[in-house]
Amino acid sequence: MRLKEALKDALDENELTKLIKSYDVIGDIIIIKNHPELESKKREIIAEALRRCYPRVRTIAAVPLYTHTDELYRTRDLKVIWGDENLETTHKESGCSFKVNLKHVFFSPRLSYERMRVAKKVLPDETIINMFSGVGCFSIVIAKMQPRTRIYSIDVNPYAVEYMKANVRLNKVEGAVIPILGDASEEREKLEGVADRVLMPLPEQAYSFLTLAVRALKLDKEGARGVIHYYDVSTGRKGDGLFNVPLERARDNISSDFGDSLRIEVEEKRIVRSVAPRKYHVVLDLRVVRTR
Ligand SMILES: C[S@@+](CC[C@H](N)C(=O)[O-])C[C@H]1O[C@@H](n2cnc3c(N)ncnc32)[C@H](O)[C@@H]1O
Repeated sequence: MRLKEALKDALDENELTKLIKSYDVIGDIIIIKNHPELESKKREIIAEALRRCYPRVRTIAAVPLYTHTDELYRTRDLKVIWGDENLETTHKESGCSFKVNLKHVFFSPRLSYERMRVAKKVLPDETIINMFSGVGCFSIVIAKMQPRTRIYSIDVNPYAVEYMKANVRLNKVEGAVIPILGDASEEREKLEGVADRVLMPLPEQAYSFLTLAVRALKLDKEGARGVIHYYDVSTGRKGDGLFNVPLERARDNISSDFGDSLRIEVEEKRIVRSVAPRKYHVVLDLRVVRTR
């Protein structure tokens, strides 16, 4: 790793490991985590080394280690430490381009594997609801892989929806991805009983929208089934136990509204990413089957 090499005299092994693990390259912007022990004097050295390793970088911004994340829009406080103050950029991933402004919208390149994993499951002619679409990344990756889909893509953040519209044009997926500005619970009500699949990529709050997601599925007759990609936060050691609490929570939520008229099966479960020591974003792919 060239960055490690470039910083080997400036940072100790512990500082280096933390830095290497925690920086993201998004288009021509680099975001670093501002660990307290890496502050002030070392920031310039780090910025200089990053510029040498990534000659096309335009901006380097820092996010405090324990940053405040906006409750609703999931954006973070970013401070430009080198370069242009403009935080708009275009990021390439899985053959798609995503235009984002990191000041106003959520975007994480760390979800690229997860987006592709979900996209690979989608079958032709599915109707999908993405309840928390951001700038449209999941929806666009799906539409590129499986053009014969309709993906209703909701977000409450007006900036995110404007960027989603731009990204739909940029990736030529008009018609397949339908951007909708609004609150997922209200917009979803208009889409009752239409979906084969629902995406809920808002780990901190998805559980409170779960019964709405179930109502969005096309479960019109006995044996009908749909899939919910349900994201949650779980704490503990890695291993199967990590999924118990999210799964119980999801099952309780669904059975309190639907009783035994639905069966919930876990199609797949995985850790999406680690967000703090022993704290993980997890996903459960829940197959919902109507039993009567
Ligand atoms: C973690 S981000 C989703 C990221 C996106 N799926 C991606 O791959 O980049 C969560 C998104 O949910 C949106 N959001 C939060 N609460 C919402 C609600 N009640 N209805 C609709 N969108 C909501 C936020 O604005 C944010 O863009």
